[in-house]
Amino acid sequence: MHLGNESKNFVFCFALHSVFIIFAHKMRHDMKKHHFHVLMTALMCCLFWLPSTPAAAQKWEGLADTPQMGWSTWNKFQEKISEDVIKGIADAMVATGLRDAGYTYINIDDCWHGQRDADGFIQVDPVKFPSGMKALADYVHSKGLKLGIYSDAGTATCGGMPGSLGHEYQDALQYARWGVDYLKYDWCNTPNINPQGAYQLISDALCASGRPIFLSMCEWGNSRPWRWARDIGHSWRTTPDIWCNFDSLRVFPQGYSQFGVMQCIPYNDTLRRYAGPGHWNDPDMLEVGNGMSVSEDRAHFTMWCMMASPLILGNDVRNMTPEVLDILTNREMIAVDQDPLGVQGLHLCDDAGLQFWFKPLAGGDWAFTILNPTKEDKTYAIDWQKFNFTDKEVSGLSTAFDQTTYRIYNLWTHKTEGKTSLKSKPLKVTVKSHDVAAYRLYKN
Ligand code: GLA
Repeated sequence: MHLGNESKNFVFCFALHSVFIIFAHKMRHDMKKHHFHVLMTALMCCLFWLPSTPAAAQKWEGLADTPQMGWSTWNKFQEKISEDVIKGIADAMVATGLRDAGYTYINIDDCWHGQRDADGFIQVDPVKFPSGMKALADYVHSKGLKLGIYSDAGTATCGGMPGSLGHEYQDALQYARWGVDYLKYDWCNTPNINPQGAYQLISDALCASGRPIFLSMCEWGNSRPWRWARDIGHSWRTTPDIWCNFDSLRVFPQGYSQFGVMQCIPYNDTLRRYAGPGHWNDPDMLEVGNGMSVSEDRAHFTMWCMMASPLILGNDVRNMTPEVLDILTNREMIAVDQDPLGVQGLHLCDDAGLQFWFKPLAGGDWAFTILNPTKEDKTYAIDWQKFNFTDKEVSGLSTAFDQTTYRIYNLWTHKTEGKTSLKSKPLKVTVKSHDVAAYRLYKN
């Protein structure tokens, strides 16, 4: 029988794990407590010194140099998914230009699952996905896109499907065999499970699967994963779930809430020092195109770009207004999100109810946004000298408006609006309610 690398890794890890558990159980019965601990410590040391184990304790590198971009089933379709929906979305991603704008992952969220087979391998729901996941992955790949899937660290997913607890290596191997490129790993039904251990375990399992698979951690920021997950996952949620609303909570009788756009932002903006190439803060997927006003959609998208957030679309891209498509394919705004410096933007200050945000970009440029969360349109005269500051927390870069003249380029009208020189008059802008004014300040 020929075993590929992925299978060999899997068999090796599984065997090692099983031997260790059987050995530990037997010895515990046979030995005094003290001797048992000495022996276990010695055994752990031996394992540590094995020249190289296939299950490297590092995540897959090079998958998240910039925040991930793609589309997910959840916000629009929830459990109402099928292979026809996914294929139609993949076709539309190509036809609308979204793929070429950078959105490459097509992520199937919760409720794709069938049962586990007699050996414990998870299967797809045969009614929703009659051709199977491998065929769907092949289809998605044939369109120049990548396939994402979803599971949960607990006994069941949030939608009540089988979770990965106790099946981590098996699930990772199954995803790799199907040709999956991305895993979102959720946190429902996990009482008494240590989050760091659970996410390390699935990260190791993905490495052992032999296929580079992106790990999107989704434990809503409960255990502050930004402090420990840098070498485990490629992004981590920092918020509860978003819903399609600009500025209010949706409270459920069960005791949890969903966040509007403006509720997500303050959970994420204090965490900028933890984000960077390879590991990103994730304030949840986009609701652009799901029913907010054009202003609100534009503000939501802009702020996610300013915060170097994952850009995972959540609307029905088979059926979009031209305004929504314009927002989602604004390449100059996407470039702010995807900037290679990889620094999350800074909420510098507030004035007259407006928020002022700066994001340092590669090559000395800055992205600058005024967000108007108030219910009134506001006119503001920008005096650049008020915004001289050094980003001491992350990049060490200074705006230095007193020494540098930038060209002011409006990222939504695509027009240059003068320069920031000491002599120029303050730039007067009107920012509509629940909207933004967003600029790229070009150094050269
Ligand atoms: C959780 C996650 C959501 C979504 C659902 C699916 O609530 O936070 O993003 O994946 O589960 O059930």
